[in-house]
Amino acid sequence: MRKEQRLKNSIVFLTGRKIKEQKKRMKLLKFKKIKNRQLLQSINRIPGWLEIKEALILYNLARALSRGAVAVEIGSYQGKSTVWLGKALKKVDFARLYSIDHHCGSPEKGESPRTVNTWQKFNQNLRKFHLTDLVVPIRKKSTDAVIDFKFNIDLLFIDGDHRPKAVAKDWQTWKGKLKNGAWVIFHDATVLPGPWKVARDNILFSSSFDKVKMTGSMIYGRQCLAGGYLEKGLRRLTNYFKYLFIISYVKMRRIIWVRNLKSLVLNFFYDCKKR
Ligand SMILES: C[S@@+](CC[C@H](N)C(=O)[O-])C[C@H]1O[C@@H](n2cnc3c(N)ncnc32)[C@H](O)[C@@H]1O
Repeated sequence: MRKEQRLKNSIVFLTGRKIKEQKKRMKLLKFKKIKNRQLLQSINRIPGWLEIKEALILYNLARALSRGAVAVEIGSYQGKSTVWLGKALKKVDFARLYSIDHHCGSPEKGESPRTVNTWQKFNQNLRKFHLTDLVVPIRKKSTDAVIDFKFNIDLLFIDGDHRPKAVAKDWQTWKGKLKNGAWVIFHDATVLPGPWKVARDNILFSSSFDKVKMTGSMIYGRQCLAGGYLEKGLRRLTNYFKYLFIISYVKMRRIIWVRNLKSLVLNFFYDCKKR
């Protein structure tokens, strides 16, 4: 009886996995604006941590920017997010994407210039996707790159060093460059403490952001400085409710994840026993 139950568990687990794959495929199809499916698949093959639904958000936000828009990305790695943003900005007249990365890996993962160099792979991908005329690579630390940066930003994507102090520093140094109405996107904000703290304190607890949302691990919003006390108060309240929703969703997701892990471990022991 117990064996039967376990077998049932493993079937549920397998079907769950299949559903996940199906959902992934469906999400790929959501990119209605990119008609070339092959192109879509080949961007998706670039190594990186960006999920399809997150890429969709980046693509749609960038595509909706106005003529002459300036987008900045902190942390490009091998260019997965760069290519998504770049492909969208190709459709915006005179748009530019400044992609900042020292290409020496992520210190929070213990990577260093001795072990990691993504510069060549990044440039290869820019050439492969015909983005060399639109993307301006800046091979510097994000906090150094800001010194010479003279433009006002329409979209800021923060996905560099994820350690709490580093994310806070990135935000402190780059926020002064934002235009009113600029989009700010924090990657890994629902999964890592560094980006979470900064996104929570500066977007979710703030009255200067509207259209605040969470997708995958991203938290993003549009800077909105206009309005009197009432409007700002209302925005703060709305964002606070969104914070409550996000925090409960994240906690729930963790419980579900633990449950999945439990069934994975059970299946493993069941398979071992069978052998
Ligand atoms: C998570 S990866 C970025 C992934 C990329 N956005 C993508 O979607 O494929 C983080 C990147 O940030 C870079 N990085 C880490 N600390 C940095 C810093 N202080 N300044 C600039 N880049 C940094 C690393 O070299 C690494 O390539």
